Amino acid sequence: MSASDPSGPAVWEAPFSDAFSDDTGTYPFGTLSKTASHVTTLPSTADAALRLARVTAGSRFVDLGCGVGRVCNRARETTGCEALGIDMCEGEIAEAAAAAGGSGAEYVVGDVFDAERLIAERPGFGEGDWPSVVLFTFLIPTLMNSRKFQALLGGLMDRGAVVVSYCYHPEGWEPTERDERMNVNLYKR
Ligand SMILES: C[S@@+](CC[C@H](N)C(=O)[O-])C[C@H]1O[C@@H](n2cnc3c(N)ncnc32)[C@H](O)[C@@H]1O
Repeated sequence: MSASDPSGPAVWEAPFSDAFSDDTGTYPFGTLSKTASHVTTLPSTADAALRLARVTAGSRFVDLGCGVGRVCNRARETTGCEALGIDMCEGEIAEAAAAAGGSGAEYVVGDVFDAERLIAERPGFGEGDWPSVVLFTFLIPTLMNSRKFQALLGGLMDRGAVVVSYCYHPEGWEPTERDERMNVNLYKR
């Protein structure tokens, strides 16, 4: 599929496999650089993740590395859940907040490694049971496979949160459920 064809298949693969090559540029869903992937998840894939994680109006959905907020905004709009996006890139957060309009999704500049604190600080997120917290990830393999990040996810899962990952998954983890076609995995204790 051509990177400039937004009407292509639901699962947009290229050029993720080559994210750190010289194939940088701007695509319909974002930009790629050598050090970061600012590609956004397609709505159909976001819907698959929301379905797999059984996100409902009572859920507290968190996108760890939310980019311009398309998944959070989609979650909020289609399910009525609370939605929080965390990203280290100020420009992406500003764009996400602008795109949220009145949808009520919240965005915060921060490092995903501070996720536990950032989630706990948000009114409505840190309170009550963590089983209602759904953590979405679409992050590069070096992050997904780092011990530090996997320990962070594991700690949040110990509190009851579930993890739903798209495209890149924590290496060595057995998914609880998987949407093969959309390349989305669900992990829960
Ligand atoms: C592939 S994009 C995914 C964007 C969004 N989650 C989506 O699916 O549409 C990955 C995002 O993670 C962010 N990111 C990468 N490492 C991060 C970190 N350590 N802390 C916060 N954000 C990070 C990047 O800035 C980028 O916006």
